[in-house]
Amino acid sequence: MLKKEYSEHNYNSISEDYSDRNSRKYNFTRICVILATAIIVAVCLFKFVNHFRIANEEESVIIAESNILSKNSLYDYNDTCAVVSDDFKFDCFPRGKSDQQSCEERNCCWAPTGNDSDSLVPWCYYPTNYNNYKVVNITQSRNGLIAYFNLSSETTYKENIKLLCMDVSYHTAQRLRIKIYDAENTRYEPPYPEIPAVHLNNSKINEPLVSDYGIVVAENQLGFAVVRKIDNVTLFDSRNVGGFIYSDQFIQISALLPTKYIYGIGEQRANLMLDMNWKIHTLFNHDSPPTDNVNGYGAHPFYLMMEKSGKSHGVFLFNSNAMDVVLQPAPAITFRTIGGILDFYYFMGPTPADVIAQYTEAIGRPYLPPYWSLGFHLCRFGQTLNQVIEVHNRTINAGIPWDTHWNDIDYMKNRNDFTLSDNFSGLPGYVEYLHKIGMHHVVILDPGVSSREPKGTYPPYDDGLKQGIFIKNATGLPLEGQVWNKDGGTVFPDFTNPKTVSYWIDQVSKYHQVVAFDGLWIDMNEPSNFVNGDWQGCIFNNSDHWENPQYVPAIEGGVLNYKTICMSAKQHSGLHYDLHNLYGFSEAITTQFALSIITSMRPLVISRSSFAGLGHFTGHWTGDVYSTWDDLKQSITDIVVFNMFGIPLVGADICGFNGNTTVELCSRWSQLGAFYPFSRNHNSDDCFDQDPVALGALVVNSARKALTIRYSLLPYLYSLFWKAQIDGETVARPLFFEYPSDENTYNIDTQFLWGPALLISPVLKENQEEVQIYLPNDTWYDYYSKIAIKSNGSTYTVAAPLDTIPLSIRGGYILPTQDPSTTTTLSRKNPFGLLIAPNVSGEAYGYLFWDDGKSLNVWENGMYNEIHFKYQSSTITAEVVTSNYLDERLVLQNITVFGIQANPTSVIVNGNAYQNFLYNKTEQALYFQTLNLDLFTVFNITWT
Ligand SMILES: *[C@@H]1O[C@H](CO)[C@@H](O)[C@H](O)[C@H]1NC(C)=O
Ligand SMILES: *[C@@H]1O[C@H](CO)[C@@H](O)[C@H](O)[C@H]1NC(C)=O
Ligand SMILES: *[C@@H]1O[C@H](CO)[C@@H](O)[C@H](O)[C@H]1NC(C)=O
Ligand SMILES: *[C@@H]1O[C@H](CO)[C@@H](O)[C@H](O)[C@H]1NC(C)=O
Ligand SMILES: *[C@@H]1O[C@H](CO)[C@@H](O)[C@H](O)[C@H]1NC(C)=O
Repeated sequence: MLKKEYSEHNYNSISEDYSDRNSRKYNFTRICVILATAIIVAVCLFKFVNHFRIANEEESVIIAESNILSKNSLYDYNDTCAVVSDDFKFDCFPRGKSDQQSCEERNCCWAPTGNDSDSLVPWCYYPTNYNNYKVVNITQSRNGLIAYFNLSSETTYKENIKLLCMDVSYHTAQRLRIKIYDAENTRYEPPYPEIPAVHLNNSKINEPLVSDYGIVVAENQLGFAVVRKIDNVTLFDSRNVGGFIYSDQFIQISALLPTKYIYGIGEQRANLMLDMNWKIHTLFNHDSPPTDNVNGYGAHPFYLMMEKSGKSHGVFLFNSNAMDVVLQPAPAITFRTIGGILDFYYFMGPTPADVIAQYTEAIGRPYLPPYWSLGFHLCRFGQTLNQVIEVHNRTINAGIPWDTHWNDIDYMKNRNDFTLSDNFSGLPGYVEYLHKIGMHHVVILDPGVSSREPKGTYPPYDDGLKQGIFIKNATGLPLEGQVWNKDGGTVFPDFTNPKTVSYWIDQVSKYHQVVAFDGLWIDMNEPSNFVNGDWQGCIFNNSDHWENPQYVPAIEGGVLNYKTICMSAKQHSGLHYDLHNLYGFSEAITTQFALSIITSMRPLVISRSSFAGLGHFTGHWTGDVYSTWDDLKQSITDIVVFNMFGIPLVGADICGFNGNTTVELCSRWSQLGAFYPFSRNHNSDDCFDQDPVALGALVVNSARKALTIRYSLLPYLYSLFWKAQIDGETVARPLFFEYPSDENTYNIDTQFLWGPALLISPVLKENQEEVQIYLPNDTWYDYYSKIAIKSNGSTYTVAAPLDTIPLSIRGGYILPTQDPSTTTTLSRKNPFGLLIAPNVSGEAYGYLFWDDGKSLNVWENGMYNEIHFKYQSSTITAEVVTSNYLDERLVLQNITVFGIQANPTSVIVNGNAYQNFLYNKTEQALYFQTLNLDLFTVFNITWT
């Protein structure tokens, strides 16, 4: 099976392949096929690319000479340079020091802006008419167009591509793809995620596809604009902005954007709404505590933009090479990548939620995590088993809801994967005990395998060597770096090799027989390396070409192999140069697959490194954050942005990883962290304990109170994850997702929502016992006092006692709940409840998704229940949409209805008069506490 591309002949069968039901499928056969496919394509690609690159190498000398000869006045300064205002200057000398001569050699404009060396405005910039590709021909096709362009003048970048093809195709009415590639030679393209290429529903073969997009191509040069037809808004305009370059290792395109309201482009620490003031986001997976202006653990070349009308759209560049993405005040964007091709996907929205649904339809919908993984997790680095058990005892004794105990690398012998250190010999027994009391266990696993243990003593290395699955150096031997392994050598499994799948299943499965863990935490998979490149210094033929290309994005360390492996290293699917940003992703796919096979259950896998599409397989945590108030606040932006990236199972280390926390910080962080979709307290080895009990009564109270609320709301949270899986909704989302026409919400990064209905407004500063919260135009109910606020879009001051996090419920929604308990194993046996929050018309809606919480493929197999709830005219009804999971009796016991003005005079439940209700006048809330209704039977509760 080949990577699916559009062609006139096969789109019908392809669209059948990707029928609705199929595209939702999360089955492992498909993953296997994807892996295998990727490999076949990649092998061919690799051979081809390599051949081509060597051929071109010889030409580059000639090009460089002819370039100097062609230096001339392509432009008239007054016409094409002076007219460019500062905000519109596109950098013609990125990451280099230019002067007038070197600038003009590039046929660019030179204009120092004042003497201010800090000025961010480029001094060397492209003239308005700069373009080095001319149109050959443009052909309209049924669902787009194909245009060819040829190179009209060389640039200073080596190996300019001579003939480019631009293939524009409408995939759906809301998804447009523009692929610009070398028409004569195959170049690297990422093997995954597999994007279903054609999705033409209900369209007849001879009719042009009706699309929400228009595309305008510049007539004689390379440049295009993407326009939303219905309101004629230009979403992305690359015409006449200059700076289009397409060379072997430097590909650049710039475009004007409609507004400055831009979100996404990660992973990099930044504000929720990105800064357009000459900001560079560098995408090259890297192990470093999240820091401003430093490339992060993952790569997501995707942004979402809000427009002036409140509509929104999204853009994804499907490219896995190292890249800089530059934002400038025009507003404009520049994508600058050092390999692969330009392969853009545009998503029309029009709501932000629609954009994410369309994006995840392309890259893969989020997976449904096991129910227990939504409980609280506790972890720390730097513990003995005895300390682990002490923490266990005190946490249980404090009555803190808690499901999963984790172990960092302390449990390993010599810090090697798949080993048990002598002082953790009791771990298997502890894990057995955890299972007995309904709890779970997760261990850390690094991709790097120790290479210097005595021969024959460490099967993970010996087996891998025999099977040839490690990433190779120039002599075809395993490339050796150094990570945690104490013996001084580390080699890296190549997860793009199909043989690695069985290798990994084998190793994980053998270890699972030693320690019966329920999930894996995959760390260090950027991949991180403590030496740069390898022990030998990346000795490869032509190594400079890959280790030190002509342009290096703004990465930390300044060289590509800084704290990672050699770019020239050979992987099964190509060179590490191209595949670097996919390393963690490929490990995540393989690990998820291995655990599913071994346990026959839905596993929990949390990966530090990520790429677009990771959420289809695993979750993510935000890495080595600091125990600071700044990092506490930043975590809100991080989790909502990862939800936009299609990875809803995400959280930051509660109380911070690096550095000692304080009691107050950890108390507030325990409150906020109880509302991360993935809720884990984790700590570094050089810090004092920060599990709740270690820090005393305040932290215990905060954690217990907030986590008890979390556990009671887990049916709501789990139902949101189900919606994420089937419809691509976000779980944690910023306010503007629900109020896209309220501009006040666009930059709110101190509050967020669970789904549409639960607003979380934590305290993010020291010494505060109240907090300013923004409530958009709607009816809101305080979670604690039940009091309604009918907001017209204003800021309110609400009380936030030291142990309490402000929460509000939005009118119009019904949230399913369950009586909380100390584990999800226990809480799942408790009665259900409903929180009903009426809107101004006295109505509310909600739904419950329920299954056994652990089986694979429940959606495909239909083994779940779906129940809808409605509240209208003082009547509550339920509709059972699906009821295939019947192993448990689901009892509805409690209902709380907010916003009830007067004590009802009569209540009727399923036709019978009912007395056992309670009305609280101060709260204006009506309570039912002993309903004892069967959730599988339609019910009707009404009152007057
Ligand atoms: C357009 O030009 C390309 C490149 O020269 C060529 O391969 C292609 O056949 C042309 N298409 C048409 C429709 O003329
Ligand atoms: C759309 O906008 C462009 C300018 O942005 C304008 O030239 C064109 O006439 C408009 N088209 C329509 C149909 O309004
Ligand atoms: C933990 O609690 C158990 C049962 O109460 C007890 O037997 C054990 O000694 C305790 N262990 C530690 C390390 O405190
Ligand atoms: C390749 O790696 C092996 C160790 O696996 C090492 O001994 C050898 O020197 C390396 N070769 C090169 C060219 O780096
Ligand atoms: C945390 O505090 C402990 C005890 O005061 C101290 O020993 C340790 O060095 C501190 N850790 C850091 C990272 O500052």
